[in-house]
Amino acid sequence: MPRRWWLAAWALLLVTLGSGTLLRIQWTGVVPAWFNSRYLLHAHSHVALLGWAFVAYFGLLFRDSRFARPRWGSLVCELLLLALIGALFAAYLYQGYAFWSIVLSALHILVTLALVWLWVEGPRRRLTAAARSWIDLSALWLVVSTVGPLMLAGGVPMGAVWIDAWVGYYLTLLFNGWLLFGVVGLLVDRFGVDASADVDGVPNPWVRRLMAVGVIPGVLPRFDPWITLPGLDWIGWVGLALVGGGLVVVAVRLHLGEAAPGDGAATTALPRRWLAHSVRVAMALTGVAVVVGGFPPLTDTLAGAHNLVIGFVHLHLLAFVTAALVLLLYRTGWAAGVLFLGGVWGMVAVLLGVGVFELLGRPVFWPVQQVLAVAGVLALMGVALLPLAGGGEGRLDQAD
Ligand code: HEM
Repeated sequence: MPRRWWLAAWALLLVTLGSGTLLRIQWTGVVPAWFNSRYLLHAHSHVALLGWAFVAYFGLLFRDSRFARPRWGSLVCELLLLALIGALFAAYLYQGYAFWSIVLSALHILVTLALVWLWVEGPRRRLTAAARSWIDLSALWLVVSTVGPLMLAGGVPMGAVWIDAWVGYYLTLLFNGWLLFGVVGLLVDRFGVDASADVDGVPNPWVRRLMAVGVIPGVLPRFDPWITLPGLDWIGWVGLALVGGGLVVVAVRLHLGEAAPGDGAATTALPRRWLAHSVRVAMALTGVAVVVGGFPPLTDTLAGAHNLVIGFVHLHLLAFVTAALVLLLYRTGWAAGVLFLGGVWGMVAVLLGVGVFELLGRPVFWPVQQVLAVAGVLALMGVALLPLAGGGEGRLDQAD
């Protein structure tokens, strides 16, 4: 992968971790708040998803050395995407959800739809068949998810319930559809292991198919006021159980800890092996959390524990998705690996632990914001060191 591409992804990851850590530092109260915390939170979550995750993901889809040199269309879209991300980060930071941030986010959707189209027409054909099946589904969920922001634009006068429903629809499809299927597909592609292969090596696509069947029912309970089916919560839970349960099966079957054919240096170096194992553990825990979190008798209680929810979001997006993208994009030296993994797991463990105290109604007597800020600084330092070891691991770094 060309250096400029993985450097762009790295810079966005730094901004993502930097903005999240700054938010924690502001909340400790030991420094004056430089930014409005609500705006900084919007800037952080948008640069994380629309910036880092999109650029890393599309970079891996378009810039693999197996693919032909990018055509003008995709070059223009890539540059537009980067410009839009910079502008929308600034807009969210200075005005939160308001005119410019909404216009720029809508343009971002148009550019990503164009990129999906260019991918289907071009690099898609070069992927291994196993990876293609996952990434096709990922692209489908991305396209279907964009209905959410469109409905928001048209339905704002319909009130808060309408907004919550479509925001929930959009985020669930991005998390459990686009990112989840996409990252599994990229891992399957890179490591050459078919995650849904049977133990005897006979391809068995049923894990993927059942997961795909579960995605749409999984979002239905979001539309509770309008869909009046009896047992809607349970239908939603069956969907989430298929997605989450399938993810656990995939995590068990992916053998990222071993060098795979065609992967050059692969995961043989110790810090990378740890990172690979860590991705599998986070993947399995995310699967369990999707199943447990959607279980109707528990959903409302769990959703009421704010730190538990934030812990789950970061287990999924940081410990699983981000760590997997880091594994795919960068070589990982000792210092970077240890700092990154220490910070990530420290943060997730503290958030989930404090979330359990919240559930039990018990007070926490230690300085949570300070500890979370330190965890953020560690992860940030790890990411800052990534370029020292280089990027575009294995066969991907032989590109133009
Ligand atoms: C060092 C790493 C990170 C730190 C310190 C951090 C910090 C934070 C903080 C302080 C919040 C607000 C929590 C609250 O409302 O109580 C937050 C929210 C969020 N973060 Fe991060 N974050 C990090 C990495 C990431 C990454 C890598 C992603 C995605 C790829 C991400 C996605 C999000 C999202 C989507 C939210 C909004 C959650 C919600 O409001 O429900 N974060 N983060």
